[in-house]
Amino acid sequence: MKRGSTIKILIENNYEEMCTKTASLIAEEIIKNPKIVLSLPTGSTPVECYDRLVQFHKEQGLDFSEVCCFGMDEYISLAQDNPQSYYYFLNRHLYRHVNIDKRNTFSPNVLAGNRQQACDEYTDMIKERGGIDLILLGIGRDGHIAFNMPSDEIQAYTHVELLSEETISDNARFFEKLEDVPTQAMTLGINNIISSKKVILIASGQEKAEVIGEF
Ligand code: GLP
Repeated sequence: MKRGSTIKILIENNYEEMCTKTASLIAEEIIKNPKIVLSLPTGSTPVECYDRLVQFHKEQGLDFSEVCCFGMDEYISLAQDNPQSYYYFLNRHLYRHVNIDKRNTFSPNVLAGNRQQACDEYTDMIKERGGIDLILLGIGRDGHIAFNMPSDEIQAYTHVELLSEETISDNARFFEKLEDVPTQAMTLGINNIISSKKVILIASGQEKAEVIGEF
């Protein structure tokens, strides 16, 4: 976002309408720029946006062939083919249903021995592609975006984050038991996020009302 960028707040009637609106905004950007660099989140909130995008691809030929996508975060040590990994999630809900070239889909290298180097490489890969054109964000109940936990210290670029107890317990619903939830993740930093040319943040439901009310 450039300094002085316009911020628009859109309030839709319900979750389905929010997702349709969001998917339409993303589709418009893909049509304007077929080589768009996206960064996309996981979580329950964006699921129907992905369903709509898949629908636009299947019914209206929305073309992902040159689209590039950077996952915004990933649990430490979960390989891309691990069903709990965020790459797996994006593949399950979006990539495998559209004509995106898998070589243009990325996630932080959470298996790397040298994690700092892997983080720096991820930031460099984004820069090499000209930066993120459009990032879609969800938000945690505690206000976290990607895996940037609320803290006095803001991390600018891709880094390893220790997850808060609240986030671990919120995300435990995707795992068999609480102890299975990884306690660390690699995530884009705040500069990676706000230097995206466009940012869309979506939130829905009573449990997000408090944090959204703080905006
Ligand atoms: C995880 C993800 C975030 C996401 C958040 C909220 O912690 N790392 O990117 O925004 O969950 O998820 P939900 O949409 O399920 O509330």
